[in-house]
Amino acid sequence: MAYAAGVDVGSTQTKAVIINEQGEIAARALIDTGANVVVAAENAHVAALRSGNIREEEVEYVVGTGYGRYKVTFGDTQITEISCHARGAVHMFPATRTVVDMGGQDTKAIRVSAAGEVVDFCMNDKCAAGTGRFLGAAAAALEVPLGDLGSIALRAEKPVKISTTCTVFAESEVVSWLGKGKRIDEILLGVHQSIASRSLGLMRRVGIEPEVTFTGGVAKNIGMITALNALLGFPVNVSDDSHFMGALGAALFAMDRILSGRVPAQEATL
Ligand SMILES: Nc1ncnc2c1ncn2[C@@H]1O[C@H](COP(=O)(O)OP(=O)(O)OP(=O)(O)O)[C@@H](O)[C@H]1O
Ligand SMILES: [Mg+2]
Repeated sequence: MAYAAGVDVGSTQTKAVIINEQGEIAARALIDTGANVVVAAENAHVAALRSGNIREEEVEYVVGTGYGRYKVTFGDTQITEISCHARGAVHMFPATRTVVDMGGQDTKAIRVSAAGEVVDFCMNDKCAAGTGRFLGAAAAALEVPLGDLGSIALRAEKPVKISTTCTVFAESEVVSWLGKGKRIDEILLGVHQSIASRSLGLMRRVGIEPEVTFTGGVAKNIGMITALNALLGFPVNVSDDSHFMGALGAALFAMDRILSGRVPAQEATL
């Protein structure tokens, strides 16, 4: 039994996935990327190996992806996160035509063909306003754990209107709304809706075609899932593996390389 691995070194978190020959997830691991990107890639991969009780030599091919993909020193090749998120999303939800990946620093909208190939994509520019980092800044300002942001936002009936388009100013805007007597849930609902509408803008640029699959760490946030569903008018696909979609796609590309390398002996001599 051969295994293939994908390591998605994101700006914020590093995800590692190991799959078997059937394309099923055999092990996965998630760690903060931190300052040392090379070590983060190694640690995530080793953590995945350990959690699946898999030996390093059983993994025949490793693909690195994400912003730090060239820091996966043990990787056999690198593939962009656009291709990897699309591949993972289509594998998990075969009817996917649009992918929205919301990570720590970037949000990407990707359109895929019926055959699962990337047709078009676009991403937010250097500004992190529509991303996990913006949510992180709001969470810090309101002293709310990141994992509770979404459920708190869903308690509100009326959102405050978030006007800042810059993560740097998010904190001060959030604090100023608190000073004006707004409730934390109302502020957070506003933050989620503002990010969701920026993502919708990105998705419109590539053309929204259902099914839409939501990937990246922000897909763990129930408030963001709800805000996207409301704007789209239909539900996005999400799963427990959404955060790992890029690493899964990378592992699937790695398995392609393993399987295509196994040319039957007869054919090989032709
Ligand atoms: N349990 C959680 N609940 C809510 N949000 C979460 C949770 N875990 C992670 N996140 C969000 O996910 C973000 C990280 O997502 P992800 O790992 O996809 O980013 P990344 O790949 O490192 O970044 P990028 O793709 O922009 O380089 C964090 O900024 C955080 O906002
Ligand atoms: Mg990412």
